[in-house]
Amino acid sequence: MVDASTLNSDPDRLLFAYWVPNVSGGLVVSKIPQNTGWDLKSNVRYARTAESVGFEYALTQIRFAASYSAASQHESVSFSQALLHHTEKLKVIAAILPGPWNPAVVAKQVASIDNYTDGRLAVNIVSGWNKSEFHAIGEWWLDHAERYRRSYEFMKCLRGIWTAPEDEGFTFAGDFYRFRNYKLSPKPIASPHPEIFQGGNSDDAKNNGAEVSDWYFMNGMDLEGFRAQIADVKERAKNFGRENVVKFAVNAFVIVRDTEEEAIRTLQEIQGKADVEAVEAFKKEVQNAGASSSNKQGMWATSTFNDLVQYNDGFKTKLIGTKEQVAERIVLLKSLGVNLMLTGFLNYEEEVEAFGKNVIPLVRELEKRGRGKDEAFEIERTGDVYRK
Ligand SMILES: Cc1cc2nc3c(=O)[nH]c(=O)nc-3n(C[C@H](O)[C@H](O)[C@H](O)COP(=O)(O)O)c2cc1C
Repeated sequence: MVDASTLNSDPDRLLFAYWVPNVSGGLVVSKIPQNTGWDLKSNVRYARTAESVGFEYALTQIRFAASYSAASQHESVSFSQALLHHTEKLKVIAAILPGPWNPAVVAKQVASIDNYTDGRLAVNIVSGWNKSEFHAIGEWWLDHAERYRRSYEFMKCLRGIWTAPEDEGFTFAGDFYRFRNYKLSPKPIASPHPEIFQGGNSDDAKNNGAEVSDWYFMNGMDLEGFRAQIADVKERAKNFGRENVVKFAVNAFVIVRDTEEEAIRTLQEIQGKADVEAVEAFKKEVQNAGASSSNKQGMWATSTFNDLVQYNDGFKTKLIGTKEQVAERIVLLKSLGVNLMLTGFLNYEEEVEAFGKNVIPLVRELEKRGRGKDEAFEIERTGDVYRK
């Protein structure tokens, strides 16, 4: 049996997270059979397994209405809380959408859950791309830059409320939110406050990563894409003295099989059995993300039909092959500056455990040998796979 605490004792280790399937339909928009439940009982099983085999984080999704293949969706904060009550070490990242939520509610709600669960709740502030969903629930639809400006204020308020001096409280006068000497009690236990993730690939998302979020979450992409994004966010972060503060997380859909051919066949089957109607509808809707920003760049802006079968471009990260190949690619990503690997799987019933038992120890072994630090060496060794 793998001992997760020994496995994760190195302070410089790469962290592993998995997507919580709190929406129906699995992690791919495909009619291929998926052995992945989205109910709480199944998810409690996945979470307990995950923490026992070395995953340290789990990420929930927020959807108010059907999209991609997620016809039904459980709400992210309540789902995260339930998972926290059934686990002991795992940190759960709850997705939060500014608009439906305001920062006063989130700061209070998260501080309370943090107190019940030894500070194990984090948040992922998502800025929104699904216009139909906003319309369905009567939310104002702001343009791209404005959505991110609202998220910026939202994150400033969360951090401010959680860390404000006891005697003064938090005061803020923004365009979206206002607070006057607001004193939150109890404060969260997590120090200095619950971690704040946010993601996207547009300049607006990068600016928020540079200035306010603790983590910058990237969709799947190729090697040059990751290098450019990380360099760009770090460059922007210099203006705020945060160049070495902001951390990077990357999404990947993982297919580990005994042979590379088998893994690629699984990928082809997933894509070959794509739910065409759902992928096409998703493709249309995601034009409201990066493609609608001022320079028309960002998440999904250049994604093909096949890319979108995994709704966060997770195939592009190419964690598809044998366990050894996947471990090598992960240390390459680490050498680029990636701090956390977010994973998704076809069959959660088997693959969360298998990844923990087969791949995480290999990565730890490579890290112990000093791998994952020298970018030029890792690119030379494995980089070609991203250039094919
Ligand atoms: C890892 C990750 C998780 C995300 N989770 C959600 C989510 O649960 N709900 C949601 O509406 N958007 C989610 N998003 C979408 C982002 O908030 C954002 O709208 C999208 O990345 C488009 O970004 P861009 O226009 O800046 O490129 C997620 C994005 C990433 C990278």
